[in-house]
Amino acid sequence: MSSVRDWEATNPIKEGRAGVFGKAVDRYEGPLKVTGTAPYAYEVEPPAQPAYGVMVGAEIARGRIADVDTAEAEAAPGVRLVWTHRNVPAQAPRGTRVHPRSTAGSKPALESDRIVHFGQPVAFVAADTLEQATAAARLVRLAYAEEPAVTDFSANLDAAGDPPGEGDVQVGDFEAGFSAAPVQFDATWTTPVQNHCQMEPCATTAWWEGGTCVVHTSVQMVKPAQHGLAETLGIGRDDVRLLTRYIGGGFGGKGQTYDDLTLAALAARALGRPVKVAFTRRQMMQATVHRPATVQRVRLGAQADGRLTAMSLMTWTHCDRDGAFTERASNFARSLYAAPNRLTGHRLVKLDLPAAGPMRAPGEASGTLSLECAMDELAERLGLDPIELRIRNEPQADPETGRPFSMRQLVRCMREGAQLFGWDRRNPVPGQVRDGRWLVGVGMAAAIRGNFLLPAKCSFQVDADGVITVRQGMTDIGTGTYTVLAQIAAETLGVPLASVRVEIGDSELPPAPGSGGQFGAASAGSAALDAGMNLRRALAELAVGDPASPLHGGDAAAVTFHDGLVALENRAETIAALVARAAPQGLTADGEIRPAADAREWSQHTYGAHFVEVGVDPVTGETRVRRMLGVFAAGRIINAKTARSQLTGGMIWGAASALHEGNAVDARYGSFIAQDLAQYVIPVQADIGEVEAIMLDEVDDKANPMGVKGVGELGNSGAGAAVANAVYNACGVRVRDYPITPDKLL
Ligand code: MOS
Repeated sequence: MSSVRDWEATNPIKEGRAGVFGKAVDRYEGPLKVTGTAPYAYEVEPPAQPAYGVMVGAEIARGRIADVDTAEAEAAPGVRLVWTHRNVPAQAPRGTRVHPRSTAGSKPALESDRIVHFGQPVAFVAADTLEQATAAARLVRLAYAEEPAVTDFSANLDAAGDPPGEGDVQVGDFEAGFSAAPVQFDATWTTPVQNHCQMEPCATTAWWEGGTCVVHTSVQMVKPAQHGLAETLGIGRDDVRLLTRYIGGGFGGKGQTYDDLTLAALAARALGRPVKVAFTRRQMMQATVHRPATVQRVRLGAQADGRLTAMSLMTWTHCDRDGAFTERASNFARSLYAAPNRLTGHRLVKLDLPAAGPMRAPGEASGTLSLECAMDELAERLGLDPIELRIRNEPQADPETGRPFSMRQLVRCMREGAQLFGWDRRNPVPGQVRDGRWLVGVGMAAAIRGNFLLPAKCSFQVDADGVITVRQGMTDIGTGTYTVLAQIAAETLGVPLASVRVEIGDSELPPAPGSGGQFGAASAGSAALDAGMNLRRALAELAVGDPASPLHGGDAAAVTFHDGLVALENRAETIAALVARAAPQGLTADGEIRPAADAREWSQHTYGAHFVEVGVDPVTGETRVRRMLGVFAAGRIINAKTARSQLTGGMIWGAASALHEGNAVDARYGSFIAQDLAQYVIPVQADIGEVEAIMLDEVDDKANPMGVKGVGELGNSGAGAAVANAVYNACGVRVRDYPITPDKLL
């Protein structure tokens, strides 16, 4: 494994001779996607005529299946099998061998008569066509023994407990500090359930090749999905080949697998033919994870000059009864601002709802919606500019752990953003600026999101035609993984992008952590860089050792790579010529990355500052986002285009969290009321005006050998608060109950 120092000595990426690293490179798989020819999991062509599976969801929130009648469904045209808990093939009990809540644990489908949430898959029909399966699924008769369900979060806050194994974090004495503070701010915000609404629903195409189960499925992490399915089926891990080549959005909701995977695999085995199973849009809303609702209490104690003496963010949220997932909306507050007395923590209410789970910037996306508005309110109370208030509370080291920041350019983000946005033209008095029927306002907020590096492997192969193939069990959830891996390969080996092929999304490839937690590009990319460096060394040695090479007898360490050439002083030949002659079978090299031993000595995050201009119609209460600007510091940027897309996508999601998105529980059934994209409001083009994301030059050499950090979630942190602050500045109404719909402004 090459170290940072090895790499710095040669550093092809710093030299940038291939001219692709950091550039706005088009998507590697873009043409396939825009021409509709990228085979997503459900569209993969199986080796034989498939059967189509359809799941039936429970119509109660809690209870038991008292009776089952599948006779009519079984007799329907084209039906090949109908399963309920009574006749589904044996599977391992939930969570065996590995930790019960691990995503790699067993997840048996239709496992018992027990119903724990509305929409839980309770029956399964496979037929020759999707239409036949859909029709027969309606003929499955289930009788329920209903039990009282608890589904109302806000009515059950008193039942909240500590998340398992987690206590509050206190530094200094918050209560004393707060009560002694000359200026005290205390307010509570609420945020609703959000659904992921990926364009591509969860879906699987499965078949068996002898004892091997081959599954194409839509999932963010390859290895846990492969291991979980093997565990469930009771077969060896190597007897499952899991592929996930193209993914139409993940956002955290596909960080785990669902019953489509298990049922497709089981049915393919039972029928001896391929089976396709997809969630309907309605099932996506009712039977996959969601971002849970929160109640957040912020207390800030400050001196008259704005310096915080006490700060607290306490979050109440919910998960399913058997679950432990916690929307950690308070975590980011532990390092954002200085204050000697601090209290943060979470309370968890168990509800009879589907499992809560991670969604893009889990914690920060919801938590900044309170604290970053509280800072706005405090600034107004103190007569300070909101940027100045934040600068006065800028910590020199992590305010809780005392660890140095690996790199923190929050202040620069705010200052550069203010200048680009024209913040100095802001009128701090709300309701003063008019543009026709609109009241116009501006707002800002800070953004923060942790940065992580996970272990990854990668392999590179060069063939006699000079083509470099990158192989890695990584995923691309629409974020740009294919493209950044191609860029790293091209830059490392000095070849044009057209000479690089990327193969990802296959459990047979070297393992990588997958896509989540905005750790993907840095983790997978660092392993790719290592593989590329090792391939360089192998090629250099091949050249200097080959009597037929013009580089023969030279110093391998001095060999350079550019324009598809291996070169030494004035001597050069193409990589293709060298490999064709000296290694006609091709040459491979492996790479690997692990977190550095001192990784935890640093407080390491990505940062940003959001600036938003909105118009509010005082007659209708309608809010229009006119301009959004985000300035971000997130390490070295590999691809200016895909990174910008990630950041602007996150910012738009932030606007949606402020103004549009949210689901509610129908207390009669324990179901979510919005169950399709007509009812679940997400912004369309017309809802969002100008959006720009600027990335500061930054290389965080504490992050990984490339100095790269993540951008996939950062844009979704703080953006909603900037919108809410702009709404207040426009019309003078503070809404602390998201989303800020027109009714709340009137
Ligand atoms: Mo993510 S929400 O960590 O996939």
